Parts: sequence; structure tokens; C-alpha cells
Amino acid sequence: MHHIDTYEVGATSHQGFVPEIETGLLATTASISPKFLYDPLGSNLFAAITLLPEYYPTKTEKDILFEYQDQIANAVGVGGTLIDLGAGNCQKAESLFNALKPTDYIAIDFSTEFLHEAIKNLQAQYPHIHMQAIGMDFSQELVIPKAVNTSQRTFFYPGSSIGNFVGSQALKLLSQIKEQALGGGLLMGVDLMKEDSVLMAAYDDPLKLTAAFNLNILRSVNAHLGCDFKVDQFRHVVKINHALNRVELYLEALEDLTVSWSGNSRTFKRGELIHTEYSHKYTIASIQELLKNAGFTTSQIWTDPKNYFAVIYAR
Ligand code: TRP
Repeated sequence: MHHIDTYEVGATSHQGFVPEIETGLLATTASISPKFLYDPLGSNLFAAITLLPEYYPTKTEKDILFEYQDQIANAVGVGGTLIDLGAGNCQKAESLFNALKPTDYIAIDFSTEFLHEAIKNLQAQYPHIHMQAIGMDFSQELVIPKAVNTSQRTFFYPGSSIGNFVGSQALKLLSQIKEQALGGGLLMGVDLMKEDSVLMAAYDDPLKLTAAFNLNILRSVNAHLGCDFKVDQFRHVVKINHALNRVELYLEALEDLTVSWSGNSRTFKRGELIHTEYSHKYTIASIQELLKNAGFTTSQIWTDPKNYFAVIYAR
């Protein structure tokens, strides 16, 4: 049995998040950072969402990665250091191991409990790959520890998670990736703009898994902040913002209510919204523009037959 190096970078502990959550809850338009969606239950609910027929991003990306694995391996090169941003259950990265044959696999996630379990199982299956697990909130800052192999780095950023940032934050993260790739590259999944009906079904599925996933963020912040949200006082709301090319996720108060925590409280009127996530949808042109602004000079793109999703390798 191999030893797996684990690191914690920055605040991933409960205490560190109290000011951030309070600020969000007390703002005129309340918001909760989407990273709080991924507590242990939330991470499992999201894994279930990816199995829904309506949630096209995960399976479409998987199909693209499988279909074009040889071309991707040609572009990326074999035997390098694969750095997985938002590794989750590590399944997506694992699907690349055969083609990319990495010497090192570095799994980074905000949800460390989930990550440690996943990487322990993965290490047992791939004893020859050097694996490291890093707990990091890279939405604040991406800091790759010194102990990570510097040769032939490829950042893997799947799932169109880049879409969860507004433009300026996305640019900042991509610039940090470009810098810390040390001449290597970025293999990224990006969701493309498409008709409303497909988006609505993906983000408001009939089994209500997405509603449960979104509502669970209230229990997650209850645990962090010690507040007393009741999930049955809210409902999951999805809006499509065409002007800003994004799906917007909210929780809407079903009645007038007050949420309290140590020395503070926030009242919500019936119908008032808490913002939880943006999911920006790109075009090939708009993502290429963003990559160029982040310092990347070349890219290769693979898509599915419906042009729902794109996988991009940039360096
Ligand atoms: N980041 C993923 C996405 O934008 C996660 C996600 C799927 C999500 N459904 C959601 C986040 C609903 C919040 C609410 O596709």
C-alpha cells in the first residue's frame, strides 16, 4: 500500500469561512458561494446529477474525451504531471490515465473528505502513479505546493467549472494556471451556449435531484455558520440570462422568515432570492478570447456532434 501525500492550502476549515458566509447572507441580494454545495452529501448528490439523462455536460464531455483520446494524448504528450482541479471522485482524470500515462497525479478539491476516500481507492488501482491530494479553495487563489513535480505539467479542469466564475475571476484563475503550468498546458471542458429547453432540463430536472443539491447548500451553511435555515422554506429557481450568457441558480423564500446565528440575523421576504451559482455558457470564439487574455497562445478544440460541449487543450 502506497503512502499518499496530502496537503491543505489556505482555509478549507470551518472557521475560515464564517466571515465570507456572513457577508454573503447580509448583502442586499443574499448569496452563498457555490463551493458550499459540495459538502459530503452535496458531493454525492452532484455525482447522482451527472447520471441524469438531462444533465448533458458530464456525459458529453466524457464522450469527447473518449472519442478523441489519441488526439488529446498527441497534443498533451504522455508521461507528465496531471493536476486535476476539482477532482471530486477522480473518475474523469482516471479515464485519461490510459491515454496520458501520467507519472504524477495531483488531485485538488475543496471537499477534502470526499477526495481522500477517492484517491485512496485510485492509488490502490494504479500503484505506479505517484499521487498527491491537496485540499484547496482555488477559487480564492491557485497555489501549487513546491512538492508537486514541475515537469510536463497539464492542468485538467473539466466539467465546465470555469463557467461558474464571472469573467474577471475566470481570467484570474486561467492566468494563474498558465503561470503555474510552467510551460505545460491546460486541458479544459467548456459548456457551450444552446437552446433554453436543454439548459432548463439540465438545471431543473424532473427527479428534482438538482433542487435537492441546491437546497442542501442551506444545511451546509448551517453547519459552517451555526445558523438555522430550514430547507422546506425555500425552493430551487433557475433563470437563463441571455444578456450575460449564463444559467443562474437561486433559492427563493416561500414565506417571510428570519435566519439567525451567533449575534446576527437576516430576514427574507416571501419571494426573495438567495443566489447560489452562475453557470456561464461560452462560444468557441468567447472561450478562445478568454484563453488569449490569460496568456495562452495556442489551442486545439474537440466537440460533440451537437456542439453542446467543448474540450480544449491550450498552452
Ligand atoms: N457547476 C455545475 C454546473 O454549472 C454544477 C451544477 C449543476 C449546479 N447543477 C447545479 C450548481 C445546480 C448549482 C445548482 O453545471
